[in-house]
Amino acid sequence: MSATASLKNTGLEGVSAGNTAICSVEQGALIYRGYEIHDLAQNATFEEVAHLLLVGHKPSASELETFKAELRAERPLPRAAEDYLVTIRPAIEAGHADPMDVLRTCVSIIANHDPDCQVMTHEANLRKAKRLTAQIPTIIGHMQNVIDGRELVRPDDSLGHAANLLYMITGEKPSEQAARVIDVSLILYAEHDYNASTFTSRVISATMSDLHGAVTGAIAALKGPLHGGANEAAMRMLAEIRDHVGPDNDEDAITAWMHRAFSEKRKLMGFGHRVYKNGDHRAGILHALGKEIAREKGPEAVKLFELGEIVQKIMETEKAIYPNVDFPCGMTYYVMGIPVPQYTPIFVAARITGWAAHIMEQHDNNRLIRPVSTYVGPDLRKWNDA
Ligand code: SDX
Repeated sequence: MSATASLKNTGLEGVSAGNTAICSVEQGALIYRGYEIHDLAQNATFEEVAHLLLVGHKPSASELETFKAELRAERPLPRAAEDYLVTIRPAIEAGHADPMDVLRTCVSIIANHDPDCQVMTHEANLRKAKRLTAQIPTIIGHMQNVIDGRELVRPDDSLGHAANLLYMITGEKPSEQAARVIDVSLILYAEHDYNASTFTSRVISATMSDLHGAVTGAIAALKGPLHGGANEAAMRMLAEIRDHVGPDNDEDAITAWMHRAFSEKRKLMGFGHRVYKNGDHRAGILHALGKEIAREKGPEAVKLFELGEIVQKIMETEKAIYPNVDFPCGMTYYVMGIPVPQYTPIFVAARITGWAAHIMEQHDNNRLIRPVSTYVGPDLRKWNDA
């Protein structure tokens, strides 16, 4: 067998790479520390879920108030991070920098100003995790303000975590409904066991490197369109279909577009999943919430969701491939008026809690992560042989 043929990578499909007490991703259910995702989406807030993931238990009323106050206090960025963010517009406009790159760079700058950066104790990691959970929405907001050419919108401490995130991006206080939809999307995105970016953060922290470094690597991993970048790519794909088939969602034209994509072996963004083969538990929750927002926004927004539903029906009936959470996320954030390039950074604003929980779990009971590989290269030979 040729060396390249046997190099077909399995991507560690189906391999259990370790234990975790944080999350279970199964065909039957998605569970965060024992709580099922529909229960959390229905009954919890993102701050409560963040406390569950980071501190390890559902907060009491007084613990929640303390936790929310800690997050509010840590929202402002170090001056050095602001000084960097106000310079990014030319690089973004030239297409040299993507908002995920800017977010990754900003986390690295923030690390240099965090007094706990080089300390790996559980307590120091928890302090750093709370700071980053509070600071990442501010980075996203300031970044978008600079892209929009406007003054920086400062955090508003009268707003909860999700509402403040939206406020800093747009400069307008969101409706209760919009804040709740963002809040639920952050809960859905918060944690997902050994996904590519979380596993990246575990590999980095398993060398006993620091939390900021592990988060920086995780942001780089999440950026990819096969992973977190799919929410932006899914919306861009829908826009491409809509531009191609026109505003009336002509089903024949959509079907023709899809069949051409199939013949070109195109990956349809927001569909499929390495673990979920019968559908992503999170997708239906966000689709329903997003469609409610679309009805509020008017017929154009509803038509986008109807286009998505036609695409979804074709994928399910012809390919038995189901939407993952990124498909409804793209449509939902679009009808809410969030700029497309901020979709994956918002994913980071949620997943920082899952990453940090895994980094703490790794540091608290560590062993270096170092698998073996199967060599399929040339046989042994001498350098001076002909
Ligand atoms: C996230 O892991 C996590 O938990 C991730 C995540 C989290 O919360 O952290 O859930 C978030 O990353 C969700 C996934 C977002 N990515 C996308 O939406 C990108 C599009 N999806 C695909 O690239 C794909 O489905 C993956 C990457 C998500 C999973 O790919 P796998 O498990 O490696 O499966 P595969 O690529 O080997 O596909 C198996 C078959 C192939 O057909 P054949 O070549 O065998 O004929 O299914 C086909 C694929 O072509 N297929 C698709 C498809 N997904 C799989 N065909 C068209 N469009 C797709 N989206």
